[in-house]
Amino acid sequence: MQAYLVGGAVRDSLLGYPVYDRDWVVVGATPEQMLQQGFRPVGKDFPVFIHPDSGEEYALARTERKSGKGYTGFLYHASPDVTLEEDLIRRDLTINAMAMADDGTIIDPYNGQRDLQSRCLRHVSPAFSEDPLRVLRIARFLARYAPMGFHIAPETLTLMQQLAQSDELQHLSTERVWQEFQRALGESAPEQFLRTLMQTDALAVLFPELLPAAQDSNTLSQINLASDPRVRFALLLRRSFAATPAEQRSQKIKLFCDQRRAPNAYRDLALQFCHHADQLCQFNQLDAAQRLGLVKNLDLLRRSEHLSLLLQGCAVICNNNLSVQQQLPLLLQALQQIDPKQLMAQGFKGKALGKAIDQAQLEICQQQIDGESV
Ligand code: CTP
Repeated sequence: MQAYLVGGAVRDSLLGYPVYDRDWVVVGATPEQMLQQGFRPVGKDFPVFIHPDSGEEYALARTERKSGKGYTGFLYHASPDVTLEEDLIRRDLTINAMAMADDGTIIDPYNGQRDLQSRCLRHVSPAFSEDPLRVLRIARFLARYAPMGFHIAPETLTLMQQLAQSDELQHLSTERVWQEFQRALGESAPEQFLRTLMQTDALAVLFPELLPAAQDSNTLSQINLASDPRVRFALLLRRSFAATPAEQRSQKIKLFCDQRRAPNAYRDLALQFCHHADQLCQFNQLDAAQRLGLVKNLDLLRRSEHLSLLLQGCAVICNNNLSVQQQLPLLLQALQQIDPKQLMAQGFKGKALGKAIDQAQLEICQQQIDGESV
């Protein structure tokens, strides 16, 4: 039996990128032989094993055929007579269909190295179309590699368009779609993900609500400028739901996030950002009561981890020309110095204590405004 490093690890090492995840393909082995060598089995559909020492995944070379919709119904055939080339041909892109032997030799039957050099994301074979998730994967790879000059081969884009226009995308599970979307939001050029989904008509199927943002070049550059995926998500939703009547906006955003199973961290930031971004961007025009209301509404006194994300989003919207970026953290710091114990020592208690705290907070907000006008 012979094990080869495959997929992303080979691609990234040839690109000179650090490799975090290493996947292996084993040719010429049976499941029983793997078990005898101490590998632990995982999964029930096809034979994948975990190396007893490294914990890395070793899959028996396999061919596969599709019988169902979406990401389901793959029929696997793994046996010692399946060759490395047969295993590699079922993979999505030529740059993901290379293998590396123990001695460092690259096995590259589908010209992945040529496509790496010409910066081309090209499908390996017509079997590409058996897996609709690949429309999202390729869009995500473009979001990662476009800054290095990569493009999608026209013939691959055509297959992606055909897949998106068939009913295959509707059969993808919500979790997989969200997983690809979230990963794409973390890549260096997430706008490319949205542009590609628009170009293939996949966006209208998977995220129709995001069309206004994806059609707006200003929003697309904004999401590239923000660095945190949650902030990018918030910027997209702010633009996408801008035309929704204000009283329905939060509800529609919640519905969108719930339907896509977005994690709470994404949903909550998006809700707060969509609700308060305008006020945040005009911070220096707010009066003391409005500043205090904003801080309390955003719950910043208790959840200050949101602050830096909100400020990141505002900085992008306002071209870094933000009074809020200096003022809000200072205000929060000052507000947090109000010590209820001191007020209690002065004799305040019950409702009166609450009022004294409110009054002290308002005074601090007013002091900040007075300080700004000096
Ligand atoms: N693969 C595929 N089609 C898919 C998923 C995976 O062809 N829908 C193949 C590709 O050869 C890919 C390999 O399986 O390189 C490993 O997949 P995965 O770990 O998901 O992706 P990576 O290519 O390693 O990319 P990433 O850096 O995003 O993890």
